[in-house]
Amino acid sequence: MGPTYWDYLKLDRLLDLQGGVEGDETKLSTDELHFIIVHQAYELWFKLVLRELRSARTELAAPRVPEEKIPFVVHHLGRVTEIMKLLVDQFRVMETLAPQDFLAFRDKLIPASGFQSFQLRELEILLGLDDAERIAYAGADPLEHIRTLAASSPGGREAWGRIERARAEPTLRSVLHDWLHRTPVQGSAPGDPGDDAAVERFVSDYFHALQRANADKTGHLVASLGTDAAAIEARMRDAELAARRFLFAEDVPEAERARARRVRAGVLFIESYRELPLLAWPRLLLDSVVELEAQLVIFRSRHARMVERIIGRRVGTGGSSGVDYLDQTARYRIFSELWSVRTLLLAKEHLPALERPDVYGFAR
Ligand code: HEM
Repeated sequence: MGPTYWDYLKLDRLLDLQGGVEGDETKLSTDELHFIIVHQAYELWFKLVLRELRSARTELAAPRVPEEKIPFVVHHLGRVTEIMKLLVDQFRVMETLAPQDFLAFRDKLIPASGFQSFQLRELEILLGLDDAERIAYAGADPLEHIRTLAASSPGGREAWGRIERARAEPTLRSVLHDWLHRTPVQGSAPGDPGDDAAVERFVSDYFHALQRANADKTGHLVASLGTDAAAIEARMRDAELAARRFLFAEDVPEAERARARRVRAGVLFIESYRELPLLAWPRLLLDSVVELEAQLVIFRSRHARMVERIIGRRVGTGGSSGVDYLDQTARYRIFSELWSVRTLLLAKEHLPALERPDVYGFAR
């Protein structure tokens, strides 16, 4: 005979894990049981999210990703996005906890905090959040803070071990960049004779097209708003300088500049000529990464709004400034190139002419 439902799902163990600090759920209020179950449900979903991301990352890490693998990656990233949407919605259940009912048991949680969710930290690390980007936590480096706390218990050492192992893995950001780096730009691929020059020409042509489009837009804005032309012109000039910095990767150290420029040119090319048959799946892949990160940002700011509603702006049980800290984390953008490119996109009629359409499966 095969397994029963309860044995297969190990329900006896699963349903015996809600005892809280007391180790006995009959001693807990219904509100506290709710608090524990909601958190555990999140952590179970995080477990699946990590598994999905690792398998998508591994497929994308191949030195040559076969075309049929991209739908697999898109499919699994899509599942992560759906889970994230569910997690965003699940904060509504948490919000049924009235502020005063939370205060009845909150203090005994100190110093426990969602900040120590090592699975969320693994998720950030696997996606590719740079340590340097992390917001200081209670005045200290956030991962260092977790390492210090983790040293005091066996569970903590396991948590820190997982964070360290995740840090040694390739990130989704880095494998995506390797893949973007190989994108044919105006028909030229890395290793082709004259590839550097081809990429440079595309970037320059694009920048000039952007300047022309911006000049038109400035005139139009000034004429239709009838406001201070100098202020608008200054804003457009700043935008143009930022575009230049991004396109020519002037913000990147010189040793890494050529690579960064090619990666950015790849994103820009895929986004600009998205209707080309060869770019159909690459474009969906970029869309799925943007959608995933958008959901993560929404998750962070939705959590902050829920926290504000339940505990206001007081200090967190983990010792951070609370809502202020959480709002700052909502500014993280791991796939920053995919976001930045959106500021620079041009209407089709302004794009540089496509060279070698045959490379992209497009006969003209
Ligand atoms: C009554 C409900 C909740 C309150 C009042 C609350 C409050 C907070 C506060 C104040 C922080 C900042 C760290 C600190 O100083 O403690 C935090 C962090 C965090 N919380 Fe919650 N939280 C609640 C529910 C949840 C739930 C249901 C989850 C689901 C997993 C969650 C996940 C997290 C995570 C992952 C962090 C770390 C954020 C980061 O460092 O980027 N929290 N929470």
